[in-house]
Amino acid sequence: MKKIHFDYFSWKNVGIPDFFKFLFSGKVVKGEFLEKLNSRLINTVGKREIYLVNKGRLALELGLRSLGLREGDEVIIPSYACDAIITPILKVRARPVFADIDNDLNISPDSIRGVLTGKSRAVIMAHLYGLPAKIEDISGIARDNNLFLIDDAASAFLLKVNNRYLGTFGDIGIYSFAINKTISSLERGGVLVINSEKPAIPKDISIDKSSLKSKIASITEYLILYRYPIMWKYYIAKMLHWPKKICSIESMANIDAYFIYAQMLDFEEKQAERLRILDRFHENLKGLNQIDIPQYKKGVYLTKLFIKTKEEKVTRDNNAKVIKHNPLKTYLQLRGIQTDYGYYPLHLKERYNEYYRGNLHHTESLSEHLLALPIQNKYDEEVIDYICGQIKRYYKS
Ligand SMILES: Cc1ncc(COP(=O)(O)O)c(C=O)c1O
Repeated sequence: MKKIHFDYFSWKNVGIPDFFKFLFSGKVVKGEFLEKLNSRLINTVGKREIYLVNKGRLALELGLRSLGLREGDEVIIPSYACDAIITPILKVRARPVFADIDNDLNISPDSIRGVLTGKSRAVIMAHLYGLPAKIEDISGIARDNNLFLIDDAASAFLLKVNNRYLGTFGDIGIYSFAINKTISSLERGGVLVINSEKPAIPKDISIDKSSLKSKIASITEYLILYRYPIMWKYYIAKMLHWPKKICSIESMANIDAYFIYAQMLDFEEKQAERLRILDRFHENLKGLNQIDIPQYKKGVYLTKLFIKTKEEKVTRDNNAKVIKHNPLKTYLQLRGIQTDYGYYPLHLKERYNEYYRGNLHHTESLSEHLLALPIQNKYDEEVIDYICGQIKRYYKS
């Protein structure tokens, strides 16, 4: 039986030959694509200040610094998110405050209102997995309460709402080019967009130059680690002390700019393909009463597609380690279909316990019941029908 698994290694316009071409041209770090990408971004997001860096989370850190956040300032974030959203806040010594999510997995405006205090200074509006957050409501809350609005479009590069690009709605916006985003570079590059007139990067914050050494480390990560199962990646990365190497804010390298630039050229095609795949999954599964498809909306691009099982759930400890699997996951695994759980809520993680206050019921219950399906663009109808057919069989048996 053919295995159906998550495979993010799918560049269309670019590939291994381009990688070697760069390596031997000596233009891995510096070169013309940084300027080209910069101009293309200005054409895309409008005339704003743009910083090309090495990771989305470092773009976020740079952005928080540019807003002048101080120790003790509170930044409201969704608890249903990855650690990358919280570490930049801790690095600038501000205080994360967790808000709940709605059924679409994005931060809930009502919950934001519920956690406001006199110390609230900013809110991070992430468009999780590409699905736009409730921009109008959240912008209103930010305006009425004098909060900085951070438009975290890490997973939503080139996606639009009302003909306006996500990432351009706040005081600052960020994009990520990590492995599972709308467009992936080699080293998970990032972009900071500064929208308002006021903030600018203070002079005392330096952005390190990208170095060949760090580039080779990250390219190794991309080419070797991501080709193998996630478990391997984790252990090898740990062995190499990866987190230490990637924590300083470096400018983006030319080779990453090239990979991003090249993929921007055919993004519309990629988007159409993804929408076709999402529609097919939805069409197949919408009649099944035992599950919901909480993020699906006609015409909306998603980087990940979750189903929400009503009964079955995963049980995890407070280090996110699985204690008991969702039985549907096990069933699909045995039939060659890889699935993935959602984030473990940040407020339940032991290391962030001290920041938790309040009831985040929706985040907790949703994160137990979510299962991501493999939705690669290369899948034809037959593969999608097989995946959905197996889910239906599970519920029939
Ligand atoms: C919502 C959100 N913000 C920020 C980031 C950080 O991006 P990066 O992985 O490029 O540091 C991510 C990454 O997964 C994300 O999902």
